[in-house]
Amino acid sequence: MEKIVVRGGKPLFGNVEISGMKNAALPIIYACVLIKSKCVIENVPAVRDVALSLSILREMGASVRMITKNTYEIDCTNIDINAVPYELFRQMRASYYLLGAELGRFGRASVGFPGGCDFGERPIDQHIKGFEALGGKVNIENGNISIESEDGQLKGTNIFFDLVSVGATINIMLAAVTAEGTTIIDNAAREPHIVDLANFLNTCGANIRGAGTDMIKIKGVKQLYGCNYAIIPDMIEAGTFMIAAAATKGCVRINNVIPKHLESVAAKLEEMGVSVEELDDAVVVKGTDTMTRTSVKTHPYPGYPTDMHPQMTVLLTQVPGVSYMTEGVYENRFRYVDELRRMGAQIKVDGRTAIIEGGTPLSAAPLKAVDLRAGVAMIIAGLIAEGESEITDIHLIERGYDDIVGKLRALGADIRRTVVPNDDAVKKAN
Ligand code: EPZ
Repeated sequence: MEKIVVRGGKPLFGNVEISGMKNAALPIIYACVLIKSKCVIENVPAVRDVALSLSILREMGASVRMITKNTYEIDCTNIDINAVPYELFRQMRASYYLLGAELGRFGRASVGFPGGCDFGERPIDQHIKGFEALGGKVNIENGNISIESEDGQLKGTNIFFDLVSVGATINIMLAAVTAEGTTIIDNAAREPHIVDLANFLNTCGANIRGAGTDMIKIKGVKQLYGCNYAIIPDMIEAGTFMIAAAATKGCVRINNVIPKHLESVAAKLEEMGVSVEELDDAVVVKGTDTMTRTSVKTHPYPGYPTDMHPQMTVLLTQVPGVSYMTEGVYENRFRYVDELRRMGAQIKVDGRTAIIEGGTPLSAAPLKAVDLRAGVAMIIAGLIAEGESEITDIHLIERGYDDIVGKLRALGADIRRTVVPNDDAVKKAN
């Protein structure tokens, strides 16, 4: 079993290079299903969710060639739906982007019901609402979602989402790019990865306007063409290093970022007294001994990101006074709080708000990564705790962070990844 072992007490100093954004790479990889020729995608992060998505495409018959560690040539000229082993879909929520991509390519789709991090209810009713509005007939049975359309052609229409959903906005964009006529998505998500997907599709010949606003207009086109494209930097990875620098009271230059994407995190850190210097494609974060308490509520972009929630809670445990973390996107993203309590954190959860009694030193403990972002928050907690913490279930962290241990070690962290033989292996050896 793999573990991450981290000894606290060392401030982070130096430079870190941010990788491509996982949540932009995934929809762009699945969007290649729409294209009957080669695409070359650069700045792809080396993370488990990307590897799994590329395996799903290979199972469908796509040719996927690694050109460098972060560049892939993907050719979906000859692919078939219904060819993917069910288990692969369960491992990751983003596999449901295949619904929109297959609909856009074939006018029909068949995908296993998605899995993903457990934050309580994560329905897909808005996705289904959009597919049906485009003329799709959705059927969910035997654990599969299948969608048919009349004479294999979707018809453009106006869709108003009842709530802001990144996934539903992406899925409907993928389905609508080749629909007959124009589709308008109203109350669309505005995340940078939505813009990145729209830019990729427009580079392939699509006609999408308004991505990044709450109204996206898509004029259907007959065909899309292969292209070369580079993924944007990962704003959540960058934000994670910003908070790690503040928490360890170090000084870190975070390179290869788009500062605009980090504004909500930078603003919150500055409000707390942390210095954040913005450069063209980097930010420099300097920690301080005199941080002030604050309240955070997560919102869809451009609000404070929900994927930066657990990391900020760890920081707030170090700030004297009572701070508040309110989860405004998911039903329940607080499963990580129990892990922090093992370290001495004083946190009470009341509904969607964590009340954090700050200024409490953390002590090392055996910790679990309960989901991707909670897992990286455990690493940050280990970086500032007294003693040596061991974190298990690190495959969840590696779903979305490219070489997090290597990058932290290069900043001076006392951290390593170890493989501990599991009990059966030990029994066998004796
Ligand atoms: C994407 O998930 C991200 N995942 C999540 O990041 C991120 O937390 C989330 O967007 C919000 O930014 C990927 O990009 C692969 P949503 P998604 O649809 O698309 C509800 C990470 O750590 N909802 O915007 O699933 C839903 O239950 C992951 O990288 C409906 O009610 O998020 C949630 O409460 C974790 N009906 C809220 O909307 C629907 O049809 C936001 O979900 C769809 C969503």
